Amino acid sequence: MKSNTEKFGKAPHQPSLWTRADALKVHADDPTTTQPLVSADFPVLSNEVFIWDTMPLRDLDGNITSVDGWSVIFTLTADRHPNDPEYIDENGNYDITRDWNDRHGRAKMYYWFSRTGKDWKLGGRVMAEGVSPTAREWAGTPILLNEQGDVDLYYTAVTPGATIVKVRGRVVTTEHGVSMVGFEKVKPLFEADGKMYQTEAQNPFWGFRDPWPFRDPNDGKLYMLFEGNVAGERGSHKVGKAEIGDVPPGYEDVGNSRFQTACVGIAVARDEDGDDWEMLPPLLSGVGVNDQTERPHFVFQDGKYYLFTISHTFTYADGVTGPDGVYGFVADSLFGPYVPLNGSGLVLGNPSSQPFQTYSHCVMPNGLVTSFIDSVPTDESGTQIRIGGTEAPTVEIKIKGQQTFVVAEYDYGYIPPMLDVTLK
Ligand code: FRU
Repeated sequence: MKSNTEKFGKAPHQPSLWTRADALKVHADDPTTTQPLVSADFPVLSNEVFIWDTMPLRDLDGNITSVDGWSVIFTLTADRHPNDPEYIDENGNYDITRDWNDRHGRAKMYYWFSRTGKDWKLGGRVMAEGVSPTAREWAGTPILLNEQGDVDLYYTAVTPGATIVKVRGRVVTTEHGVSMVGFEKVKPLFEADGKMYQTEAQNPFWGFRDPWPFRDPNDGKLYMLFEGNVAGERGSHKVGKAEIGDVPPGYEDVGNSRFQTACVGIAVARDEDGDDWEMLPPLLSGVGVNDQTERPHFVFQDGKYYLFTISHTFTYADGVTGPDGVYGFVADSLFGPYVPLNGSGLVLGNPSSQPFQTYSHCVMPNGLVTSFIDSVPTDESGTQIRIGGTEAPTVEIKIKGQQTFVVAEYDYGYIPPMLDVTLK
């Protein structure tokens, strides 16, 4: 087998580091990097299901694509159980918070369609029960492949294990709506290897998921981003000078930050169809800073690579913190070096008064950022909350060099197409 050096003609890249010094620059509530307050009287997409991670149909170049004038989104979805005795509390009330918190264990891929890029209509489940090999259908990316309507859905098959998989189907339109046909054979692509990416055996809290395939605008090859953790036994990672960065006196203590080992992974396809993949070293490492860099994705703009990824307050390491939201990094070439946007990495975080209002942001190439509503306080003290499980208002950011700015807010779940494909 050829080594990376033989294949690429140079030594493989080193992961760029998101350092503790960078993270010290993260500040919640800077209005240019904070999502406007979501009001507690938001509408819900459906009273039957919760939705969270939203995956707009797109092409391999990243363009959000409608078909025959129909916009299409895929969502992680789980039934709501307002009448299930299991979710009725001792006072006879529906415990929606517990139902919502349990959703990851029963996540399924659904799709929705719309003529307006909002007001989504439920299409249904993408794969029939029994098609996907594991209990959970976790996030990924639906790719429109051609004018025949072929769609490759890349996603994560979780529990047991975590495998990046894909399933091929087709989108069919009529004047009344959209349906998804096929999606019957799931093909496993790869799992964490324990050498570059941490395995479950190395760390029961490992993350390996959220494939985002793309064609590199410069070399034209097919690659895929994904979420991982840096390989190695849990607790064995070193948080040294490089991971700490240039911190002020008194900030050298890294506490237990060796347990936080997030990375953004990358793989390259060996074939045209994306059936055969080779993992490469991570693009970005957050060792010593954060344990999760989820749903990584790119915006290609002004000849630069803008890498976005979502992360949580609770996954930050000792001594550093930041809001739930989307973080970003920029490089002049695919393999970096990447530097944090806005100095810190923070691009769009929740306001500290509503720390869980939204999550799972996806920055689209038109600067629009979609996310879902998690929970919004309904009283001053923040003890009463309203659970979302629905689309959040779309926010627009402007990306300028190494900076980003929040500039506008639109309707709930507004995901307009960037191009329309007429199916043949
Ligand atoms: C983000 C996320 C993804 C994962 C899914 C599981 O909200 O944690 O990384 O695929 O949700 O529900």
